Amino acid sequence: MLLFSSAIREMANKPFAKSAERNGGPILEVLRDEFSGSSKVLEIGSGTGQHAARFAAELQHLQWQTSDLDENHDGINAWVSGARLTNLLPPLSLDVLTAELPTMLYDAAYSANTAHIMSVDAVNKMFAIIGSSLMEGGAFCLYGPFRHGGQFNTPSNAAFHEALRSRDSDMGIRHLEALDELGLDNGLSRVRLYAMPANNYIAVWHKGKI
Ligand SMILES: C[S@@+](CC[C@H](N)C(=O)[O-])C[C@H]1O[C@@H](n2cnc3c(N)ncnc32)[C@H](O)[C@@H]1O
Repeated sequence: MLLFSSAIREMANKPFAKSAERNGGPILEVLRDEFSGSSKVLEIGSGTGQHAARFAAELQHLQWQTSDLDENHDGINAWVSGARLTNLLPPLSLDVLTAELPTMLYDAAYSANTAHIMSVDAVNKMFAIIGSSLMEGGAFCLYGPFRHGGQFNTPSNAAFHEALRSRDSDMGIRHLEALDELGLDNGLSRVRLYAMPANNYIAVWHKGKI
């Protein structure tokens, strides 16, 4: 009975996003390949913490470092402590706009559904942080919707973009080509683009020469 009520309490403290539950499986399969030779991942914008808990459990060769704005830390900590994994670390306080540039601390980086939520300045800074924090050969996987060749891939993503802009004019679905330019400015070259369910993508950049 005691065990049962502590499990209920633990679940109640964990924020839950249906989208993160749904997209976690397909993203995991890409990360399994892309991070197969990696050991230390920095996640930017961990959100609820669901992805981190699932991916750290499935990819135990990785040390998974969560991070986000402070307001999301209670939720991420609930997932981290619930997971009881030695390879899953509590969140760093990391607002990309104000963070210092870490130097070559990680050999992988991951972020999901952040580039269209952050301002352009914040996206620029996210790439600078990742460019600086990755070791040579490190991989950055960014999940989300992108514009490609100047086009939205579906009318629903065009509508989503308009909805984001009316909520906050700094938000919006980014052009993949602009992200590639940003990557090059920060020592990152794109090596792959995966089409994902629900009209999303994973873009993969590598640090250094390819
Ligand atoms: C749509 S949520 C995505 C959460 C999670 N990655 C997922 O896919 O479910 C966007 C995330 O970006 C984070 N974020 C927004 N601005 C940020 C900033 N300046 N620095 C770091 N994270 C930021 C938010 O706090 C939030 O966790």
